[in-house]
Amino acid sequence: MVDVLVAADALVRLFGGGRTWLGRRVPVVRAVDGVSFWVRHGETLGVVGESGSGKSTLARMLVGLLAPSAGHLSVAGRPVRGLAGVEAVRFHRAVQMVFQDPVSSLNPRKTVRQILEGPVQVLLGAGRAERRDRVARILDLVGLRPEFLERYPHEFSGGQAQRIGLARALVVEPELLVLDEPVSALDVSIQAQVLTLLRDLQTRLGLTYVFISHDLAVIEALCDRVLVMRDGRVVETGPCRTVFRAPQHAYTRSLMAAVPVVRQAIRVCTP
Ligand SMILES: Nc1ncnc2c1ncn2[C@@H]1O[C@H](COP(=O)(O)OP(=O)(O)OP(=O)(O)O)[C@@H](O)[C@H]1O
Ligand SMILES: [Mg+2]
Repeated sequence: MVDVLVAADALVRLFGGGRTWLGRRVPVVRAVDGVSFWVRHGETLGVVGESGSGKSTLARMLVGLLAPSAGHLSVAGRPVRGLAGVEAVRFHRAVQMVFQDPVSSLNPRKTVRQILEGPVQVLLGAGRAERRDRVARILDLVGLRPEFLERYPHEFSGGQAQRIGLARALVVEPELLVLDEPVSALDVSIQAQVLTLLRDLQTRLGLTYVFISHDLAVIEALCDRVLVMRDGRVVETGPCRTVFRAPQHAYTRSLMAAVPVVRQAIRVCTP
């Protein structure tokens, strides 16, 4: 399929298997255990599952922070494994990640300007004028004021810090954003604002999202298709509407039984 941006085939990631310094065996954890999926340009794939189901491990493989133990992953038709030099720079520009805890994912010793200019310099090799221009434009796009540039991460609320995290990811103009529980640490009303912003940015910038959450209401509000994960495996997948209307797997039904209050807030804030 020509419009496929991400293709994952039988991805596996193991942890453990060695010994501790006292010689005790560390059991093998199959954090991701044979996961296959694809993501089309411009769509949002939701990944949902309870704690420990392998969502973050999958996310870290997608952005190249973790190497798969087995399986195959490609982005824009290029294999992700063993990238170096120009190819690695191109990949890290195309694929960016937004983390769960907005404040601790930002370097506390750097100003917002330094945080945002860093990736522009490293990945685009841009000079001072272009860095300043990109940073000013992205800050406006995520709804933050220019005077924030000279402040430090601890001076911001959770919602503002997550907007900075988003700006850091978007400033290099990626194609794919992998969002690992981007609103879970925020208050419900702020969650709705950030989700609305994400939806708006996707339309304006033509972005593709992999959106991870343990919260089905958030997934339902934002995603086109969904992967339901349990113990490192995909138990159910399909268009959001189909999966939510008629879940085939008992595990999906049990996740749906716990629908949190955020659903209401998202409906109020989004068209
Ligand atoms: N670096 C690591 N070393 C050892 N085990 C790990 C490591 N990272 C993850 N795991 C294990 O892999 C499994 C999947 O973890 P992962 O963090 O991917 O789950 P998750 O779905 O993101 O959970 P949560 O909803 O709590 O964020 C868990 O059993 C976890 O303990
Ligand atoms: Mg996680």
